[in-house]
Amino acid sequence: MEKRNIIQMLAKKVAPNWLGRQLILRRSLAACPGFTKADLDRCAAEFLDGPVGIGFRNFPLPLEIEERRKSHGSSKYFDFDYWLRVNILRAVALGLNSGSRKRVLDLGCGPGWFLAVCKFHAHEVNGFDLPYCDMCKEDGGVYMQLNRMLGVDKDIRRGRISSFSPLRVDGKFDVITAFMVCFNNHKSEQTWKAEQWKFFLEDIKGHLKAGGTFRMELNPDQRSYPKFKYYDTETKEIFRQFGNVQGSTITLSL
Ligand SMILES: C[S@@+](CC[C@H](N)C(=O)[O-])C[C@H]1O[C@@H](n2cnc3c(N)ncnc32)[C@H](O)[C@@H]1O
Repeated sequence: MEKRNIIQMLAKKVAPNWLGRQLILRRSLAACPGFTKADLDRCAAEFLDGPVGIGFRNFPLPLEIEERRKSHGSSKYFDFDYWLRVNILRAVALGLNSGSRKRVLDLGCGPGWFLAVCKFHAHEVNGFDLPYCDMCKEDGGVYMQLNRMLGVDKDIRRGRISSFSPLRVDGKFDVITAFMVCFNNHKSEQTWKAEQWKFFLEDIKGHLKAGGTFRMELNPDQRSYPKFKYYDTETKEIFRQFGNVQGSTITLSL
């Protein structure tokens, strides 16, 4: 076995989260041509030097959260070194790290990392997520605390995205995003199928300004979708009719 493969295999056993995260960051960086690792480190340092970052860096995490933040539950979002970088790269991939002020809407914004990075780049940010009381206890507590710490709590509208119901947001946006999507009843009996996605994407189009972009990243569901991992053939076809499909990522541009 190659030395590189042995190291990867050992790292997977010893620190599976760490390795997975390094691979995600490396892949995301590769999707941002012209933006280097040094640029990423510089941008993260600038964010952490700002008022939000300083508050965040100095916040003493309770031991319990400190232990859980490397886990899969929502406490993982306290791992600011990682989630800050993920969201800097999400913004770069959409060209939001430079250029004119944009009106941005992030659906299922959760902790608010993407909103905080967009705000750092001087954009107008709008989040949309469930009321805290409709979330499980851990999510409600973690998201409320992080929304405040990241300074985006007042930028988030509370509501539920439901199948065949228009989004309850005002006006049109330059950029609409949805990362690690769960509002499609992910991994449940009621997971959205092609017709629900068609309604949703038609509605989204109506909320985009001319020249606007919608970017969505789906969560995997290998058991339901052994072929494409994220959707069935019919849904993939609908996504194709609206825009570009690359694995988990669907992009619609007007
Ligand atoms: C896996 S988290 C992703 C958070 C964030 N987008 C990110 O990538 O870091 C999924 C988010 O979707 C929200 N969500 C789930 N179902 C929803 C629904 N029906 N309407 C609105 N938000 C929903 C959850 O509250 C949670 O914040």
